[in-house]
Amino acid sequence: MYRYIGNKAKLTPYILDKVHQMIGDAGTVADIMAGTGTVSLELRKKGYKVVASDVMTYSYHHLNVNLCMKEAPEFIGLKDVITDDLGCMYLTVLKYLNQLEPKKSFFYQEFSPDGTPRNGTPPRKYFTSDNAMRIDAMREKINEWIDAGNISKSEESLLKHTLIMAVNEVANISGTYGYFLSSFKKNSLEKIELKPIDFYESNSEGHVVKLGFAENLAATIKADLCYIDPPYMKRQYAANYHILETIARGDFPDAVGKSGLRDWWDQHSKLCTKTRGLQSFEKIISDMQCSKFLISYSEDGLFTLEQLQECFGKFGKVSVQEIDYNRFKSNDSKLPQKLKEYLISVER
Ligand SMILES: C[S@@+](CC[C@H](N)C(=O)[O-])C[C@H]1O[C@@H](n2cnc3c(N)ncnc32)[C@H](O)[C@@H]1O
Repeated sequence: MYRYIGNKAKLTPYILDKVHQMIGDAGTVADIMAGTGTVSLELRKKGYKVVASDVMTYSYHHLNVNLCMKEAPEFIGLKDVITDDLGCMYLTVLKYLNQLEPKKSFFYQEFSPDGTPRNGTPPRKYFTSDNAMRIDAMREKINEWIDAGNISKSEESLLKHTLIMAVNEVANISGTYGYFLSSFKKNSLEKIELKPIDFYESNSEGHVVKLGFAENLAATIKADLCYIDPPYMKRQYAANYHILETIARGDFPDAVGKSGLRDWWDQHSKLCTKTRGLQSFEKIISDMQCSKFLISYSEDGLFTLEQLQECFGKFGKVSVQEIDYNRFKSNDSKLPQKLKEYLISVER
């Protein structure tokens, strides 16, 4: 289960319809704030070529898998390291990682109830101690294979994607990783298990995956249509998904404060600010080699529909489709359940 703020799993049919109306059934679509890669994968399934990017490293790994893989890679460099053979090296590698001796390392120390956080705060409860030790063993083994040159870049992305999906299943959180729950909920007591993903077999060639701010990448991207799915609120993704970022990077950052966030300032998004968000949209649209844009936005976002229409109106003709939608629910239950989601198209 991937509970990600703004995940478009339920809205993809509307987005795909709109893309089809705007460019027909072929061409290159940019998905420049791609998050979990859900929309990118659906675009691939429809036969489009996709240029996808996001500022978060975990998204980079999800996109490499969602767009560029059609089957499990062979993990040739691990054939001498793992002697077991299940007939498929991906399955063999997952079994090996699942059976590793749990290790008391960074996740155990910083994110489990038996740990002693380096900054002296009380132990955190993102994972049970056993799961934290298993995550430590798995991610450090992946690091070891990367350092030894045993796995390729795409194999690294697949293993990290698979590990993140498993971590999401057992995280003791309510919606995001911004904070942990005070007592362990049912799913978090299950033993973490890497499970093989399903691969989509067609249209795996010719896609491009990039990592970085859309404002900086826009000038390097040429597309028939650009889909923009920005953050709507002040909540920064880098803060709310810090643990996934740490798994994606495979590093050992300082865990700051009671909640143990990594320093995320290098991934701070201007689109989460009222003061600089509209300038970011303008930079992206003016820099990109593209004449059609489709933007998702929410009724309760930082900017009103009028503000967005005025901003986009500087570039061409703007039209808006309104869709009734159920709100992303974390622990903020006072807000009304229904809200409108906008699909704004701009044609220069
Ligand atoms: C609403 S989510 C996208 C959800 C995605 N469509 C999905 O279905 O999973 C917004 C994404 O924008 C990314 N982001 C925020 N500011 C960005 C920027 N300036 N450049 C690139 N990505 C950015 C966030 O990391 C987040 O993944």
